[in-house]
Amino acid sequence: MNRDGLTALVDCQPRAALAHLPTPLERHGDLLVKRDDQTGLAFGGSKLRALEFFVGEALRRRAKVLVVVGSPQSNFCRLTAAVAARQGLQCRLLIVGNARDGHDLSGNRWLSSLFGAELIPVDSASARETISDYLSQLQRDGVPFYFIEGGGHAPEALWGYLQASVELLTQLGTVGTMPDRLFVACGRGTTYAGFLLGLRLLDCPIPITGVSVARDQNRCRSEIHDVIDRFCRQYGLKNPVVESDIWIDDRWIGPGYDAVPPERWRIIVGQARRRGLLLDPIYTSRAMQAVLESVHRAACRTALFIHTGGLPGLFDVRLAGGLESIAEKNSLPVASAGNSQGPEHEDEN
Ligand SMILES: Cc1ncc(COP(=O)(O)O)c(C=O)c1O
Repeated sequence: MNRDGLTALVDCQPRAALAHLPTPLERHGDLLVKRDDQTGLAFGGSKLRALEFFVGEALRRRAKVLVVVGSPQSNFCRLTAAVAARQGLQCRLLIVGNARDGHDLSGNRWLSSLFGAELIPVDSASARETISDYLSQLQRDGVPFYFIEGGGHAPEALWGYLQASVELLTQLGTVGTMPDRLFVACGRGTTYAGFLLGLRLLDCPIPITGVSVARDQNRCRSEIHDVIDRFCRQYGLKNPVVESDIWIDDRWIGPGYDAVPPERWRIIVGQARRRGLLLDPIYTSRAMQAVLESVHRAACRTALFIHTGGLPGLFDVRLAGGLESIAEKNSLPVASAGNSQGPEHEDEN
């Protein structure tokens, strides 16, 4: 399929124009950076690409309320809250966590409230049941709602990243460079799935490494394969992706999803000071860790780093614990509220 053909398919889908596109492709020496942190709305992020299609479908169904599940510091929840505000919709966020999270008013959680979303706490021990009961009750009450899986993990999201693949290949043609490898942070793998499918549909063989933030490589691979398969069946496309083409690097998970060890803070500080590039503590700093390691051992010369956003995580005081040991050497002030109790959530979104 060529770029025009894929664009024509994307253009047939219900969609709300929300993101500033195309996002810039920057060159930093041998490193190319696709700035999806600059999609425009509410601190940006790649997930806004997916939300364009979720919201398009929600509006087509005349929904008035967006309902999403997420963790207390979910980037996807923050963006959904912003999008709902922008579209004049209500937003209800089912926040899966524990009692301690109720006191966390920083980062994405604060922003979601600022956008007027209703945050409904859901105890993690009984989350599945509580969410299902909540949705059934909305149905019984006749509320016109549209439910989005945590983190936007659903086939519709892939349209956004297919469009991003077209955009990226057009930009690479303009800069006249082909990277050896793409790197993207991988939670549930929907973003990865969309980029991989997009590039392969366009006959572009560049390998993509998904840098896992929580799941082991087998689980990531099978979830990615599954969402691509569902997408292709749902929209009648021949699936060009084989499972062995899904590259997952799960070496940077460390003690847990939201544990940020000093070496990752070192990368955040280093990239900020070397390139003026902000990375978030959970997703993009892990992906950058994989990029730097790969370049260091000469496994990759020209890397393309997809900056998926997540920047409000820099203002989540719970993540600052690992900063203490590197603060003095880097002339950094450290908030005393830093959490040194270790990871709280084993999962993302
Ligand atoms: C900033 C950021 N980058 C990357 C990801 C990973 O996306 P996915 O769950 O599609 O793998 C997320 C998921 O929440 C995210 O918030």
